[in-house]
Amino acid sequence: MNQNQPVIVALDKPNELAVRQLVDRLDPALCRLKVGKELFTAAGPALVKDLVRQGYQVFLDLKFHDIPHTVAAACRVAADLGVWMVDVHAAGGPAMLEAARLAMESSRAGQTRPLLVAITVLTSFDQHTLNAIGMQGTLPEAVLRLAGLAHDAGLDGVVCSAAEARLLRTRFVPPFLLVTPGIRLPGAPADDQVRIVTPREAGAAGADFLVIGRPITGSPDPRVTLQLINAELQETNAS
Ligand code: C5P
Repeated sequence: MNQNQPVIVALDKPNELAVRQLVDRLDPALCRLKVGKELFTAAGPALVKDLVRQGYQVFLDLKFHDIPHTVAAACRVAADLGVWMVDVHAAGGPAMLEAARLAMESSRAGQTRPLLVAITVLTSFDQHTLNAIGMQGTLPEAVLRLAGLAHDAGLDGVVCSAAEARLLRTRFVPPFLLVTPGIRLPGAPADDQVRIVTPREAGAAGADFLVIGRPITGSPDPRVTLQLINAELQETNAS
């Protein structure tokens, strides 16, 4: 588990005002932020730049998947926004992954480049969906294969469910990063997540960063909830 701000708060809010009200109650010393397709489509690069200006490390979660040239160009533009992390689909293949990594390495001369992580198999997929799109093997095999492509192309890590983290850690050791959504506090509702784990369990499974949305954004006091989660994770790190 990353010692320094392991929690990435998913800003899954419908509009910019709601996001700004939430972010005002958080603190860059306590968390990082994730901007996904919905918020980016609504509020665009200006909001991302503003969050960066406020001192937040931003994960731009746009899951790029296109021809290598296009993905590389998109990665360069994302890096210029000053974001901390960007993701692409490992299913884009070795050439696309390599192009994305090279784009990151050549971006922002003199500054820290953004981390580049890959989506393996979306957690909304089951074996039937995998078969339907013609991917071979079982789900775990597909996850390992796609994570292997990301690893071999020199990416920094993958986004995965905590359920897959243990399996991935058998083959991919740190500093290869595991970024894990589907986190719930003990006893809290699962919402629409199917396989959930607690922050402590995710840490024990080998996750480096935890993507957490509604348990924080929907809580009466997001800052206090975040502090509770951070305290729990610090205990896990210390033990
Ligand atoms: O509110 P919640 O904690 O479920 O939010 C989790 C975030 O992580 C959402 O932004 C969701 O889209 C994202 N995510 C996920 N499962 C994945 C990849 C991303 O839940 N496999």
